Amino acid sequence: MGEAFYLQKGANLVTKENIENVGGSLQNLPLYLNPPPMIPKYTTISIAMDATPSSTDHEYLLLLLPTSASFLSPYLAVLLVACSLLWLFPGGPAWALSGCRRRPLPGAPGAFAALAGPAAHRVLAALSLSVPGGAELLSFSVGLTRFVVASRPDTAREVLASAAFADRPVKDAARGLLFHRAMGFAPSGDYWRALRRVSSNHLFTPRRVAASAPRRLAIGERMLEHLSFVAANDGDVAVRQVLHAASLDHVMDTVFGTRYEAASQKGAELEAMVKEGYDLLGMFNWGDHLPLLKWLDLQGVRRRCRSLVRRVNVFVGSIIDEHKRRMHDGGGGGNGGGEELPGDFVDVLLGLQGQEKLSDSDMVAVLWEMIFRGTDTVAILLEWIMARMVLHPDIQAKAQAELDAVVGRGRAVSDADVAGLRYLQCVVKETLRVHPPGPLLSWARLAVHDAHVGGHLVPAGTTAMVNMWAIAQDPELWPEPEAFRPERFAEEDVTVLGGDLRLAPFGAGRRVCPGKTLALATVHLWLAQLLHRFEWAPVSGGGVDLSERLNMSLEMEKPLVCKARPRW
Ligand code: HEM
Repeated sequence: MGEAFYLQKGANLVTKENIENVGGSLQNLPLYLNPPPMIPKYTTISIAMDATPSSTDHEYLLLLLPTSASFLSPYLAVLLVACSLLWLFPGGPAWALSGCRRRPLPGAPGAFAALAGPAAHRVLAALSLSVPGGAELLSFSVGLTRFVVASRPDTAREVLASAAFADRPVKDAARGLLFHRAMGFAPSGDYWRALRRVSSNHLFTPRRVAASAPRRLAIGERMLEHLSFVAANDGDVAVRQVLHAASLDHVMDTVFGTRYEAASQKGAELEAMVKEGYDLLGMFNWGDHLPLLKWLDLQGVRRRCRSLVRRVNVFVGSIIDEHKRRMHDGGGGGNGGGEELPGDFVDVLLGLQGQEKLSDSDMVAVLWEMIFRGTDTVAILLEWIMARMVLHPDIQAKAQAELDAVVGRGRAVSDADVAGLRYLQCVVKETLRVHPPGPLLSWARLAVHDAHVGGHLVPAGTTAMVNMWAIAQDPELWPEPEAFRPERFAEEDVTVLGGDLRLAPFGAGRRVCPGKTLALATVHLWLAQLLHRFEWAPVSGGGVDLSERLNMSLEMEKPLVCKARPRW
């Protein structure tokens, strides 16, 4: 950095002339300084004020003489200018370095940390509106990664439905956790297609989802028993904890065919592993966007992944071995396509034959991903719904009146009742609109080759996202978008399964969520059970805080705590 030296007037002064005379080198300049400075060769000096002495002026002349790092200063200056130019390029540095320099996309300059905050969906929505044409498609950079985000249904469809965006960018953590061998991150080749076939033909068929209803019902009943106990003791309900435990129990049952006992040692171990996985996948890792940092692994992502993968392999591996033994002994639960026997996902995968057959390590990746995807999303969505029920007692009462009409108060809700609960289904849709668990559709897409979106060229290797939250908040598509009004779905039936891009919380196209029917069946049933048996109210003196935090999914920042009073 520079160092200040003062030259007293009257001495043999540095003037503009003698600086020019020495051509930038100060070796011969008579500088009267105490102590005399060491001025390295080729030092550039700047004069902070006019150095020509005036007769009346008794002030000091200030020179800024760079000492250390002075050799670099011209290069630094060039670098700074270059960085500023890259930064100011529409879309930021990654786009400036791409082949799209001549025809830039609408872009926000240097949105470097757009994804790093707790409300990336809101930041991106605001950025998209601040740039002309940005709502259709906005380009931005995070480190050296090129991004585009679509915030209109037509461009969202172009991204989600196009074969060009059939891959996903694989984050370091996802690769570290071996998720590139699971369905969600596998590249869109034969292996991924085989997994999708297995999921649509065996794992998530409507018959299998229907056949697992008694298990969902039983888990819901256990949840109600627990809540009755809390209510009898006039306790406050920590909703997230209750829903998370139920959801993990459900996914464990569906995937492994095992009951999850939260209090047991195995249960606690599983909880800890799931939590560590969420943390790793949900955290913003600079290494995903800056190659040097990836190599340095400063956030310790790879180290933590290695340790988690070891534990997961032992845990899931032992469950697979148990299933193999049982099948060998003739007591297996499933036969791959065996819809007549519910079985669990392990049975189904072990029963696959021929080309569909998976290795043990691939099976671990697939099963582990299901645990991840299934637990978090369902519990988070239900917590938002319950928060809205506490916040809007009129809407809660309307849903309960419907339950009383369809189910009555004398018996428990059954899976078959759900079809008749139209208003309750509207409540779920409205929550998916206002609080989608994946506001940026969770995991983005990657352009496998050059493609056009909204008339713009998006080069291969670009990460493409859809801001579903922004679309669902667009006043041109949704009148009074910030109002929570389930009735809007009674007035117009909008599907949430991917056919209408005004509201596609499960994504759309070839990578649409395969678990959507199972997820909705679970959410509808448990919500019906919770509202049928209890009235939900705020804790005394407390309200509901709707602040958001986007980790792997969009969670309530302050977990919901409320009262549950038995209705009958
Ligand atoms: C409320 C619950 C859920 C929501 C909101 C949700 C949402 C999503 C979204 C937005 C995607 C990306 C879709 C796209 O790229 O177009 C996705 C993918 C996926 N989801 Fe879900 N999901 C939910 C529940 C589940 C469940 C219960 C499972 C399984 C047990 C599951 C398994 C998956 C898998 C495996 C993928 C990756 C598919 C692929 O890349 O081919 N999800 N989900």
